Amino acid sequence: MSERKEDFENLMRVRVAAARHIATDVRRFDLESEGGAPLPGFHAGAHVDIVVHLPDRTRALRAYSLCNAPSEKPERYTVAVLYEADGTGGSMFLHESIRAGYVIDISPPRNYFELVEDAEYSVLIAGGIGITPILAMAHELAAEQKPFELHYAAKSPEDMAFRDTIEPNFGEQARLYFDGGDPAKGIDLGAVLGPPSPGRHAYVCGPKGMIDAVRATAEAAGWDEANVHFEVFTPPAPLSGDAPVEVVAAKSGITVQVAKDQPILDALEDAGVICDSDCRMGICGTCAVKVLEGEPAHRDNVLLKSERAEGMMCTCVSRATTPRLVLDI
Ligand code: FES
Repeated sequence: MSERKEDFENLMRVRVAAARHIATDVRRFDLESEGGAPLPGFHAGAHVDIVVHLPDRTRALRAYSLCNAPSEKPERYTVAVLYEADGTGGSMFLHESIRAGYVIDISPPRNYFELVEDAEYSVLIAGGIGITPILAMAHELAAEQKPFELHYAAKSPEDMAFRDTIEPNFGEQARLYFDGGDPAKGIDLGAVLGPPSPGRHAYVCGPKGMIDAVRATAEAAGWDEANVHFEVFTPPAPLSGDAPVEVVAAKSGITVQVAKDQPILDALEDAGVICDSDCRMGICGTCAVKVLEGEPAHRDNVLLKSERAEGMMCTCVSRATTPRLVLDI
């Protein structure tokens, strides 16, 4: 995520009402407004960005899905954070430095992973800490009495966060799997996805391997890719083969030279091109523009194949396989 100064504006100050260990390497944080007033409402799939302090003493934002039941005026937000020893330091900060009673800064909720309003049936699939947005979805669907099933895999009972919430709340609609770390012993994806139909939607959050497997299984079964929904908060890492690229903003009449480690979106904005953007990590689609010349190297997790075929690209994360791109912006 290429953070900018303005990303740290419009933050909310919240108090950590409770912080506790709920599974192996997972801590749950309940957040409430300092004065006890309701917080901004949200729908399932929403996340907040939390300000964290990294080991190099810089501030950064890290996105965490809200996993409590959605509400118009929630008293609390609940997030759960997996400790990632080889991460960039955000989870380490939250695990080691944040305790109940502390005050932290967060963004208002944003949602790039919404339930489809008129879905006839929803299949929810979660792996490990990926349960967080999926749990909010189960709460929302249950509250609206919409049909769904939840499939949730973890290595062992000790690794499964929110088991104590899921079993009493969702009963037989939820199926739990303990795969010992071997996905082949977990969810039978072909069976739970079932045959495609226009009103059947699948939502998956978990390790990349699980998301890829769900997408591949659905594609092989003939699902429309627009009916398979997923969210990945990890922005794509730069590749060693990334090269500088010249980008022409055709409508703006501006040409920029983009360094090999610089997001195209940042370079365009720095040169004065007005760009729409939101997540800046390839998951919302707000920055998508049409490529008029050149070949994009797609790194986003949001554009459909049909949109890529029409020449769209996300400038926040994608690059080019040609030395020059001309964009319709
Ligand atoms: S700003 Fe969200 S995909 Fe680029």
